Amino acid sequence: MYDQIEITSQFPILNRTSPSGSPLIYLDSAATALKPQCVIDAVHEMLSQHTANIHRSVHFLSDEATDAYEGTRDIVAAFINAEPNEIVFLRNTTEALNLIANNFDRKGRRVISSYAEHHSNYLPWTDEVYRLSLNAAGQIDLQELQRELEKNDVGLISLSQISNVTGNIIDIKAVSVLAHQYGAKVLVDAAQSAPHLPIDVLELDCDFLAFSGHKLGAPTGVGVLFGKAELLEEMDLFLKGGSTIEEVSADGTYIPKNAPWKFEAGTPAIESVVGLSKAITFLMNIGMDEVHASFTQLSQFALQEIQNKLPAGCIVGAVDKTSGGPFSLNFKGLSPHTLARGLSDRYGICVRSGFHCAQPLHDQLCVPASLRISFWIYNNEDEISKTVDGIVQLTDIISR
Ligand SMILES: Cc1ncc(COP(=O)(O)O)c(C=O)c1O
Repeated sequence: MYDQIEITSQFPILNRTSPSGSPLIYLDSAATALKPQCVIDAVHEMLSQHTANIHRSVHFLSDEATDAYEGTRDIVAAFINAEPNEIVFLRNTTEALNLIANNFDRKGRRVISSYAEHHSNYLPWTDEVYRLSLNAAGQIDLQELQRELEKNDVGLISLSQISNVTGNIIDIKAVSVLAHQYGAKVLVDAAQSAPHLPIDVLELDCDFLAFSGHKLGAPTGVGVLFGKAELLEEMDLFLKGGSTIEEVSADGTYIPKNAPWKFEAGTPAIESVVGLSKAITFLMNIGMDEVHASFTQLSQFALQEIQNKLPAGCIVGAVDKTSGGPFSLNFKGLSPHTLARGLSDRYGICVRSGFHCAQPLHDQLCVPASLRISFWIYNNEDEISKTVDGIVQLTDIISR
């Protein structure tokens, strides 16, 4: 297990206090993760020493910026066991999912997704989509999936690997095996899983996979789309403009660049991409197996605390003790927003309230909204206990 105190010391924001003077407890990492010092330093260095546009100018500053940007592609590829030319830098997971929804040619075939998806993997699929429900264990039913695939008209399956509400882990490998038997491709929304699990796209045998840098400790503004090289090559430009083409004629016809560059239109978030390389290196130095093991442990502790101290049945959805993903809680008659405000203002604890961009899942589970606690590598058991105790005190005060 990694040295928790040493890791925590790398996140300078954790030294600050809330407006009421409490030490910060940050349990909203499923929304965005805090940034380690090495990422902050890398962005500072890019801005102060290497500012230039990439892939354009012939001067040493542009060489330095281009090398740092392109070097990140190798690091991201190593992180998920892909090839560098299979890594596309976009703004975030949402943009990556929309790129596939708009530009991957399904040849008129249907999409299979689920009711448990984040809106970013829900709204892009409106035409010819079949949505799986999760069963009592928080899993998709592989037999139901197979029944749909047997109709032989499915072009793509798009699922999140870890739910941003319940933390349930979907067995993507099993989905890929089935999908490929019936000629369907698999797109994985790894927004929540990339910060939690070792990801190996060869092992998962997925065709596309998307995640956001900011949930991994990188700055906002950079997301990653992995796509198998031959599939990316087949796809047309997403956005058209600078950096996407080899040649343009006066009539507007063009010869596109090869993938991945043809999808990176305009000037990208260069500093954020370089920050991503540092965030990933930081995580790889810890080891994603270690990260996952520590999550599992923290998750089990959180579960015990919730079950021992909070009302029975307050956990939304099925509990997956192996995930370390978020816990969402619902207390009948109490607004999660009121609780979140109380946790913040009284105790300096940051959590999320609402439906976490997953309203259809909340509807299916008949829960109007919930309070989400999500942890990452810098959290510890003491913070979880203080949060659960804070909820106990607040529910007591509010219901008096
Ligand atoms: C499962 C899942 N998918 C997609 C997204 C969208 O990520 P982004 O806002 O970085 O595009 C999120 C964000 O919380 C998420 O949790």
